[in-house]
Amino acid sequence: MNSITPSKNLQQLPPYLFSRINKLKLEAYQKKLDVIDLAMGNPDLPTDKTIVERLCETVREHPKTHRYPQAKGMPKFRKTVSDWFRKRFGVHLDPEKEILALIGSKEGVAHLCMSFLNPGDYTLVPDPAYPVYYNTTILSGGRVYLFPLEEKNNYLPDFAKIPQKIVNKSKIIFLNYPNNPTTAIVEDEKFFYEAIRFAKKNNLILCYDNAYSEITFDGYVAPSILQYEGAKDVAVEFHSFSKTFSMAGWRVGFVVGNEQIISQLEKFKSFIDYGVPTFIQLSAVKALLEYDNIVPEIRKIYQQRRDIMIKEFKKIGYEVPVPKATMYLWCKLPQKIVDEYGSLKFAEFLLKETGVAISPGVGFGPHGEGYFRLALVTANNRFHDVALRFKKIFLSVGVKLK
Ligand SMILES: Cc1ncc(COP(=O)(O)O)c(C=O)c1O
Repeated sequence: MNSITPSKNLQQLPPYLFSRINKLKLEAYQKKLDVIDLAMGNPDLPTDKTIVERLCETVREHPKTHRYPQAKGMPKFRKTVSDWFRKRFGVHLDPEKEILALIGSKEGVAHLCMSFLNPGDYTLVPDPAYPVYYNTTILSGGRVYLFPLEEKNNYLPDFAKIPQKIVNKSKIIFLNYPNNPTTAIVEDEKFFYEAIRFAKKNNLILCYDNAYSEITFDGYVAPSILQYEGAKDVAVEFHSFSKTFSMAGWRVGFVVGNEQIISQLEKFKSFIDYGVPTFIQLSAVKALLEYDNIVPEIRKIYQQRRDIMIKEFKKIGYEVPVPKATMYLWCKLPQKIVDEYGSLKFAEFLLKETGVAISPGVGFGPHGEGYFRLALVTANNRFHDVALRFKKIFLSVGVKLK
């Protein structure tokens, strides 16, 4: 018997769907194709130089920051998060009990599952969604119930349609608005009260992923679920510096909200990691303090890119919806392509033939089929070319453009 067998939980996960796209991307680079990589939500904008300078100075001048960090987040980090949260959302957070630093929000979401799931417990996961909710449930020995997010319902869930038998076996529900990948936002606050009520009634942890709360356009301001009464009884909310401050590689985020949930997550993490390096925490503090000088510019750049890409698509006769938030476009594929290719094969074909990398909708769940996600992570002058390459592929397979 081969003793090197992965755990049953790991075996349950199919090979990462995007690894196929990544392999093709590599091949395209090797073939010296002019690759335009719009597949991952990996911000191309460099981190603001005031934050970079803060990091360099801290590492150089303060050797104490080279030691193990305070895993839950140093007091200065938690106090700054608390001040920012009050200013931004009008929500008071106790820095001692209601805030925990994370090595990126992905780490926190994964460890939340591991902290709370017993074998066979369900999580309620949107379909389509950021794949981490599904994958880390499985890695924790849990089971996933996918509830659909559909265009006809503005990509909002219908809680009443989730079978009660499943709900009774569930411990966590994941929600994420502004939404990846659909770009949907919530405009009616009734939704939040409904979500809180549903979680309370069914003893669920409400895991609200607010990774895109600051990447919003046309004056739209995204809320925190913690603004709504009763949320702290059931909810934790995840925040990330990755998109807000273009700090994806720095690996820093935080979770806020219900203190019992946070204390168990902190306990779990204490067995696994040492937290965010102190010099990164101090850089993140600087980022929050400089929020007003940094974030509006980042927002402006994504909004510009959004408008240019949509205009270029329009010019080739392809219409896509205008998102109010996130750094993505969520685009419906022409029916002919859905019928003959499906989103994965189309993404592979587009990449091989033209060097444009996008994410197939099905990579985010079965209800993502028929769509693709395009991340606005390249310079303005590339979008014209992207549209032309789409046009070439659409025409080559006989799609009729307007
Ligand atoms: C919805 C959502 N949540 C969380 C994350 C992870 O963010 P972080 O870099 O903080 O781990 C992402 C990253 O793409 C995301 O799209």
